[in-house]
Amino acid sequence: TIAILDFGSQYSELIARRIRETQVYSEVLPYHTSIEKLKEFAPKGIILSGGPNSVYDQGAPMCDPEIWNLGIPVLGVCYGMQLMVKQLGGEVARADRGEYGKAALLIDDPTDLLTNVEHGATMWMSHGDSVLSLPEGFEVLAHTANTPSAAIAHPNKQLYGVQFHPEVVHSIGGQALIRNFVYHICECEPTWTTDSFIEEAVREVRAQVGDRRVLLALSGGVDSSTLAFLLHKAIGDQLTCMFIDQGFMRKGEPERLVKLFLEQFHIPVEYINASDRFIAQVKGITDPEEKRKRIGYEFINVFESESKRLGPFDFLAQGTLYPDVIESADTNIDPATGKRVAVKIKSHHNVGGLPPNLRFTLIEPLRMLFKDEVRKVGTALGLPEEIVKRQPFPGPGLAIRIIGEVTPDRLEILRNADLIVRQEVNRSGSYHDLWQAFAVLLPTIRSVGVMGDQRTYAYPIVLRMVTSEDGMTADWARVPYDLLETISTRIVNEVKGVNRVVLDITSKPPGTIEWE
Ligand code: XMP
Repeated sequence: TIAILDFGSQYSELIARRIRETQVYSEVLPYHTSIEKLKEFAPKGIILSGGPNSVYDQGAPMCDPEIWNLGIPVLGVCYGMQLMVKQLGGEVARADRGEYGKAALLIDDPTDLLTNVEHGATMWMSHGDSVLSLPEGFEVLAHTANTPSAAIAHPNKQLYGVQFHPEVVHSIGGQALIRNFVYHICECEPTWTTDSFIEEAVREVRAQVGDRRVLLALSGGVDSSTLAFLLHKAIGDQLTCMFIDQGFMRKGEPERLVKLFLEQFHIPVEYINASDRFIAQVKGITDPEEKRKRIGYEFINVFESESKRLGPFDFLAQGTLYPDVIESADTNIDPATGKRVAVKIKSHHNVGGLPPNLRFTLIEPLRMLFKDEVRKVGTALGLPEEIVKRQPFPGPGLAIRIIGEVTPDRLEILRNADLIVRQEVNRSGSYHDLWQAFAVLLPTIRSVGVMGDQRTYAYPIVLRMVTSEDGMTADWARVPYDLLETISTRIVNEVKGVNRVVLDITSKPPGTIEWE
């Protein structure tokens, strides 16, 4: 196991994923994790992440200096390296020139940490501070044109530091460096595999559940579907899957999902059509946050009454993933209060969005997995590509893609337009290259058009197509004009109520992916 101490870097999770790609288990812990807790966790290696601060900032995050005496190998990345240098008596200062972007790594010692990393390899840099002098016992392993100490080591104590980010894809040879650290320096064994995870999870679920009953709210996404497969494997018909149709799904999707589960996977699903209740909840509501809250709230109501009807259940299974449970070091400091704050952009709702005071004990077998690991587990359990590689779909569904009040008529228009987008994107072969491709309806705007000899006055549809790694940032997709043309022509010709198609060319940030 490798522990990653998070100093607020946007890349901390990425480091954990890179470690796990070497089939070694890793977890992200907050930088202020106590030495006792760290000892309990008993990692074979520790990585200190980067972070937005300078080690000389007032209140800059520090780790317990006892870390240097544990006898466990440590690798400091960027801020993590500067912290190591400062705490052990070296000197860090604002550099004349910071280094941002690609830099060629010039290797002085090609052994140890840098085995198999090529001389001149491109590494991704992002730092304003630099190491001026090394603490006693340290030596330079590599430098760049602007940074004399790009990689450093105290070989006897097994303390290492790199100024660049080996975890990002632009760092060629970064993964070799990580493997050296994990396998050779920390002497970890590659035992964290999909099969070992499934075996262990099945065993744990059986032990926890015994002969009692488990309820699962299925959404049809990869997380809840993988969870259904895993639990079905572990406890068979002690599992009840409940699918709540809030009436905001894409055309044909509820039917398709139920059919797949019943006929192909032979996992029973309780289908609950609650669309009337949800439509009633959002009637007259135009504020996006209010809309989201009401849908989330109604979901809980339906869930409660239906689980009573189908129950009693002892456990509730949730598809919580690791990014939701990482206690990240939030290093956003509110200038007014000096306190660390998290900024809320939207209240997300999904089938896991249930309040903690339900009568059930939670089981969350996927809680230590990243999304790509869930996909692997799903595939290993026999989940088809259609679900494993499905584009994300938000919990509130089409309701947040109708900008303004949601009505049955508007849902029908959007569903028809959305179906055309899906069909044409599929046909063009770009479905898997896109993070998401969907339609948004602007039902409060009408524009003039002409069809045949007739004047039209109808709604516009917005096409939103983005590429993204994780949904946190995104870029508008440069799809072929031919595809845009086909989609536009078909929507205007086939979808009653729409006479114009426009393209959203905003990246995230500053835009978000969804419009509400
Ligand atoms: P935004 O619009 O915030 O969306 O850029 C980022 C990603 O999250 C999805 N999304 C949601 N997913 N419940 C979900 O499960 C929600 O309430 C929700 N809102 C947005 C969105 O589709 C995109 O992939």
